[in-house]
Amino acid sequence: MSELKTLETELMTAIESASDEAALEAVRLSAMGKKGAVSELLKSLGAMTPDERKEKGVAINALRDAVTGALATRKQALKLATINARLAAETLDVTLPVRPAPAERGRIHPIAQVIDEITAIFADMGFAIAEGPDIETDHYNFTALNFPAGHPAREMHDTFFLPPDANGERKVLRTHTSPVQVRTMETQKPPIRIVIPGKTYRQDSDATHSPMFHQVEGLVIDRTANVANMRWILEEFCKAFFEVSHVNMRFRPSYFPFTEPSIEVDIQCDRSRPGEIRMGEGKDWLEILGCGMVHPNVLRAGGLDPDEYQGFAWGMGIDRIAMLKYGMPDLRPFFEADVRWIEHYGFRPLDLPTLFGGLST
Ligand code: DAH
Repeated sequence: MSELKTLETELMTAIESASDEAALEAVRLSAMGKKGAVSELLKSLGAMTPDERKEKGVAINALRDAVTGALATRKQALKLATINARLAAETLDVTLPVRPAPAERGRIHPIAQVIDEITAIFADMGFAIAEGPDIETDHYNFTALNFPAGHPAREMHDTFFLPPDANGERKVLRTHTSPVQVRTMETQKPPIRIVIPGKTYRQDSDATHSPMFHQVEGLVIDRTANVANMRWILEEFCKAFFEVSHVNMRFRPSYFPFTEPSIEVDIQCDRSRPGEIRMGEGKDWLEILGCGMVHPNVLRAGGLDPDEYQGFAWGMGIDRIAMLKYGMPDLRPFFEADVRWIEHYGFRPLDLPTLFGGLST
């Protein structure tokens, strides 16, 4: 009998001191496995006489039950200990601020935002986008736009000239987006309805002028396009862009070599309250664009017959209308790449401007 007692004590000690589930499983196998100590005892019952079996059977079965019970209890305790240890280790401080995802931290530059806004508005009216090179020939930047050699308007453009090439030709950094008008006429048959956003360059630098700035050009050419159509388009554009239901516009006679008649457009606004600008009311008139009917010489330069086709065009400073819409007083920080400025004036990257979802919300 004392042998059974010794075995029981041994097994109970081993079960109690098993420090994890794997160790406990090893103890279980040593007792209850195929060749386990308790299993062997149970097997020995078969070879006993009925009297022996009566006497020892009770004790062996009692041992088996005691060991099985102890194993189950210890297993439960170890499981609980594992869970408690995990709960203690895997804490999460829910009071910490959520770190924004990279896509949330980036910012869209106001110029990129305003170009997206402008193209969304004109795309909705059926315009396509066209582009041309920043380094332009004298022909496309001036001559084809009806600036003859020696014309005084050339001087007004403060042009950046490149050194002459092998043929003595001096390319320029385009002073406006208008050269893309002629490039488009050469490659596309009317009807033409395009907007041309892009970089432009002039030797000029102060709080409201940068040597590199942005323009958006518009061009419509068909057989009947007229000033009334242009006026409607520009008015619809201004309402949509400034996100107001009403604007007042003033069309003043002006002069550009590439249009006849030429017009400058002002919009009415109230700037009497500091830091705020209201459209469609007030005492101020701000010039926002130049426009006109495309000059017959420009149509000819683009390979179109002015007796067959006519059209209108306009050109607008993007930086200027961005400053106006978003109340930015100085143009210089636009190009200084200061992260504090872009964090303040930039736009969230996933908020794409659309007419149905809102341009600037
Ligand atoms: N290219 C002109 C400028 O940079 C702006 C302009 C005026 C463009 C009249 C046009 C236009 O297309 O019709 O000052």
